[in-house]
Amino acid sequence: MTADLVVVGSGLFGLTIAERAANDLGLKVAIIDRRHHIGGNAYSEAEEQTGIEVHRYGAHLFHTSNERVWNYVNRFTTFTDYQHKVYTRHKGEVYPMPVNLGTINQFFRAAYSPAEARALIAEQAAELGDKVPENFVEKGISLIGRPLYEAFIMHYTAKQWQTDPEQLEASIISRLPVRYTYNNRYFNDTWEGLPTDGYTAWLERMADHPNIEVRLETDFFDAGQEINRDNVRGNVPIVYTGPVDRYFDYAEGELSWRTVDLEEEVLPIEDFQGTSVMNYPDPDVPFTRIHEFRHFHPERDYTKDATVIMREYSRFAGRDDEPYYPINTDADRAGLLRYRDRANAEPGVLFGGRLGTYKYLDMHMAIGSALSMFDNRIKPHFTEGAPLE
Ligand code: FDA
Repeated sequence: MTADLVVVGSGLFGLTIAERAANDLGLKVAIIDRRHHIGGNAYSEAEEQTGIEVHRYGAHLFHTSNERVWNYVNRFTTFTDYQHKVYTRHKGEVYPMPVNLGTINQFFRAAYSPAEARALIAEQAAELGDKVPENFVEKGISLIGRPLYEAFIMHYTAKQWQTDPEQLEASIISRLPVRYTYNNRYFNDTWEGLPTDGYTAWLERMADHPNIEVRLETDFFDAGQEINRDNVRGNVPIVYTGPVDRYFDYAEGELSWRTVDLEEEVLPIEDFQGTSVMNYPDPDVPFTRIHEFRHFHPERDYTKDATVIMREYSRFAGRDDEPYYPINTDADRAGLLRYRDRANAEPGVLFGGRLGTYKYLDMHMAIGSALSMFDNRIKPHFTEGAPLE
């Protein structure tokens, strides 16, 4: 196939670009991905034994307040009415998250009104007086007070970062949400739900167009592949959604990421924890949370003989690990600026998505920014001859 546009990465960013280019502009698009499947980190599949849909790269909940994105995604899938809620298991008790009036009253064995709870948390948060928080612990205390911070946040964050919280920078958190109502919906967005037929059906529909060719198990940096950096660069416009530092052979240093290890287990019982996500904020448990996938789709007729759970462990990523969350140290921020200069100077290549921009993006943000790139840069290039930059 002679492609008009090469898209590196079949995650939601790459798929959105490819879909728009094929449907709106009639372009021939080649999408390559080094994985054996489409969809990037949003990919899901039926677990073999049980048929329960498992999100292979960690739980993915769709939510957005962006009307354009909502209308766009609804062309490819309908959504269930799932509303995400998270619980947390601390010292043998289960509390609702994020911290809300229910959490506060259970924790302090009280029946505070919203005003009373607000006054209590304000008093506890004032413990450090006028002192400017110097690390993560002090910042946490200044936001929600020591008791709640130590119970629900401190060790959880230490496990996520594999670092003593006293050594973590205060800037990691700017706010910790506390709700003075009993509302424990996790997201506040206008629209929320899970794709009715699963993520992969949605993602495959985006690529289902005669002008779109998907090549899997194809690494852009593998010179043995028909489509690779050396023979495409300068010849065909490229949208690159892989890691930006990898594209430039790490010339400005490696950007640091956190990754997660996911340990899956099939249990011979109908229900393990009664909810989709349970956090484990205590230091004596090595994982951060457990997902139980059947609860994402209560409307489905899943087997009652078994359930699938996934324990999540967090750690720093090495070069061969999946990069999940940007760490954003001072060195990373400086390196990113140098990579941005290089990316801007790279002719015929646009960098996008979470890996290409070194930015955590929720799915709706990845789709929204791909739609903007299409409108502002790709469409003008192909319809008006504007330079691709
Ligand atoms: P994405 O990573 O999905 O895709 C990039 C693709 O590029 C990958 O398929 C990769 O294989 C490919 N690639 C990289 N290098 C390549 C190379 N050299 N050659 C060929 N292909 C290459 N969002 C949300 O809205 N709700 C949620 O609940 C969650 N939950 C969540 C949990 C976890 C653990 C993570 C890490 C992320 C989330 N997200 C999320 C975010 C969501 O995963 C994110 O928005 C999308 O992955 C972004 O899509 P991209 O296309 O940018 O990247």
